[in-house]
Amino acid sequence: MKKDLISIADLSLKDIQKIFSQAKRIKKNPNRYAGTLKGKTLALIFEKPSNRTYVSFSVGMYQLGGNAIYLGPEQVQLGVRESIHDVAKTLSRYVDGIVLRTFAHQTVLKMAQYADVPVINGLSDYSHPCQALADVFTIQEKLGLSYNKIIMAYVGDGNNVCNSLIFIAAKLGMHLKIASPKGYLPKEEVVKKASIEAKETGSFIELFTNPQEAVYQADIIYTDVWTSMGQEREAQKRRSDFKGFQINEQLLSLAKKNVLVMHCLPAHRGEEITDSVIDGKHSIVFDQAENRLHVQKAILVSLLKS
Ligand code: CP
Ligand code: NVA
Repeated sequence: MKKDLISIADLSLKDIQKIFSQAKRIKKNPNRYAGTLKGKTLALIFEKPSNRTYVSFSVGMYQLGGNAIYLGPEQVQLGVRESIHDVAKTLSRYVDGIVLRTFAHQTVLKMAQYADVPVINGLSDYSHPCQALADVFTIQEKLGLSYNKIIMAYVGDGNNVCNSLIFIAAKLGMHLKIASPKGYLPKEEVVKKASIEAKETGSFIELFTNPQEAVYQADIIYTDVWTSMGQEREAQKRRSDFKGFQINEQLLSLAKKNVLVMHCLPAHRGEEITDSVIDGKHSIVFDQAENRLHVQKAILVSLLKS
């Protein structure tokens, strides 16, 4: 049966460990995997812009001996030019896997339901699983600690990236302290769903409306844009609502001395993060971005290799 990657919540601990060990091998010795997906094609349906996700999946396929085809908003027009069902069924006759970046999470679920080939969530308004996997892989590389010794503070919008971090933290036993302004905390249903697993793994997921409290003694400070793709009309209001939630030197000083700063990128410099922090010695944002490539190659091998 084909496997998809829709949400971290669907993965077992073993699945995640397998992806990480494969990513480690691939990163160390990429040439050994050069022909692993020879003759395979990946369709990239992107209804939103992308740098990292689009480029790393395309380059990843190329490096594995396969091919990637970009289908932008003009081409497929899911549900407008053609139903999701008909797109899924048609593409399944041509390609070996589909990456979908879209708005409604329901669209990813429907694509996975109808496609006969693996579907990978390349970001929806609900989650960004490939990002969270690369993030934790990066944390492991940098800290090498057992998960329940790691405290991550996420400061910003309780958005898609935050949701996937919640799911992965709960699954692995990592501690997550989230600070968002009132009205922007992650949805209760997400925290509730993750809490069941968090109880078993010993992870604590805590919510704050004060960033100072969240970053206190943190090993990692993570942030994302205040205005996600599709929310551009709210940008001005959000800039004002998120005042005080910027990652700057002052906030950094409350965390552990060797705190790592992470951002999924793209960054709105001067809003959620200052230049001096993102370019400073604590920042690992480009190592994090690089690992999107290695981790996604591992995901591609695990889903597409026959
Ligand atoms: N982090 C991330 O997914 O970046 P892109 O939007 O550029 O793909
Ligand atoms: N939350 C951001 C993440 C971009 C990678 C967005 O959805 O625009």
